[in-house]
Amino acid sequence: MISLFDRLSRRFFWALEPEDAHALAIKALRYMPVAKSPPDSAELGVQAFGLNFPNPVGLAAGFDKNAQVADALLRLGFGFVEVGTVTPRAQAGNPKPRLFRLDADHGVINRLGFNNEGAEAVHARLVARKGADGIVGVNIGANRDSTDRIEDYARLIEAFAAVASYFTVNVSSPNTPGLRDLQQAKVLDDLLARVLDARERSRAGTGATPVLLKIAPDVTLSDLDDIVGVARKRRVDGIIIGNTTVMRPTALRARERAREQGGLSGRPLFRLSTRMLAETFVRAEGAFPLVGVGGIDSGATAIAKIKAGATLLQLYSGMVYRGVGVVNEIKADLAAALKRGYRNSLASMIGNDAATITAESWPA
Ligand SMILES: Cc1cc2nc3c(=O)[nH]c(=O)nc-3n(C[C@H](O)[C@H](O)[C@H](O)COP(=O)(O)O)c2cc1C
Repeated sequence: MISLFDRLSRRFFWALEPEDAHALAIKALRYMPVAKSPPDSAELGVQAFGLNFPNPVGLAAGFDKNAQVADALLRLGFGFVEVGTVTPRAQAGNPKPRLFRLDADHGVINRLGFNNEGAEAVHARLVARKGADGIVGVNIGANRDSTDRIEDYARLIEAFAAVASYFTVNVSSPNTPGLRDLQQAKVLDDLLARVLDARERSRAGTGATPVLLKIAPDVTLSDLDDIVGVARKRRVDGIIIGNTTVMRPTALRARERAREQGGLSGRPLFRLSTRMLAETFVRAEGAFPLVGVGGIDSGATAIAKIKAGATLLQLYSGMVYRGVGVVNEIKADLAAALKRGYRNSLASMIGNDAATITAESWPA
């Protein structure tokens, strides 16, 4: 039903303002029956930070900010869904328009600014699905007007520990002024210490919920040295690379739109985010798994991310341009690649190209 809806309505969606199209997509997933995708074949399964993922293709944060449709998305075939970013208190985000499609580039620019219904509403929805199958991570952030941003993260860890499969500490959105400063070594160390402390406090009865860090693709390589160093010292469970970029690649065709402020995602982010993934892989030295995000919209881009160092994948913009069917297409291509070689294991592909990629010239 949803895939038929997907095919028939693409043109209709395209005629809408991007934010209205998004709201309609959420409504459709909430109220229309979603047939369950066939079970994934065993070789697509991934074990990471104590969780068993049926397949490595996840939905990135920002689509289901308020945890309204996580189960429908899992039924569509995603191996995991990340809800949020959630902030302690509800907030409206930036003035509209704040979401733009760069159709000629298959890119998106957003400056939403953490619009969300707040922790209480999101928590209630996750409590309602508690015990249901499927991995649902919670991406957490600070309120824009918070006087103690680190405290916001710590409180959210305690609030969601019993219902989150894992946490993502988002310090990389470009749309909350100053948020990305939390990536600086000393502040990051303090943030992670308090977050992991909160995780320990809320552990009773729930086990230790994995904590991942989501970084910007725009950090310098010397910042990345520090970030990976701090993450290793504090023993985070993984790093997600990465969020949207404030850069504008020279090859962009939608030049007018590209001048909109905000974070760029989709195809034009692929090269930069894959380079940063490889750079993180060579620095992490296997200390924890990495999640590759940015411009995945096909089997080939998914495989390239794994070879650059990703154990798990996430996508968002690819679904805007290719529809929800892109998930099953990617999974079929991964399964075919495994049949062609790689000793039938995704694990044997991870990071194979990282060294080569880090030696290439910097993406323009
Ligand atoms: C409209 C939109 C909203 C987003 N909101 C969030 C968010 O709330 N938190 C977050 O960590 N990332 C957010 N992201 C970033 C995505 O999770 C992802 O990191 C980025 O879009 C790159 O992946 P993609 O090229 O597959 O879209 C958002 C992206 C888009 C396009």
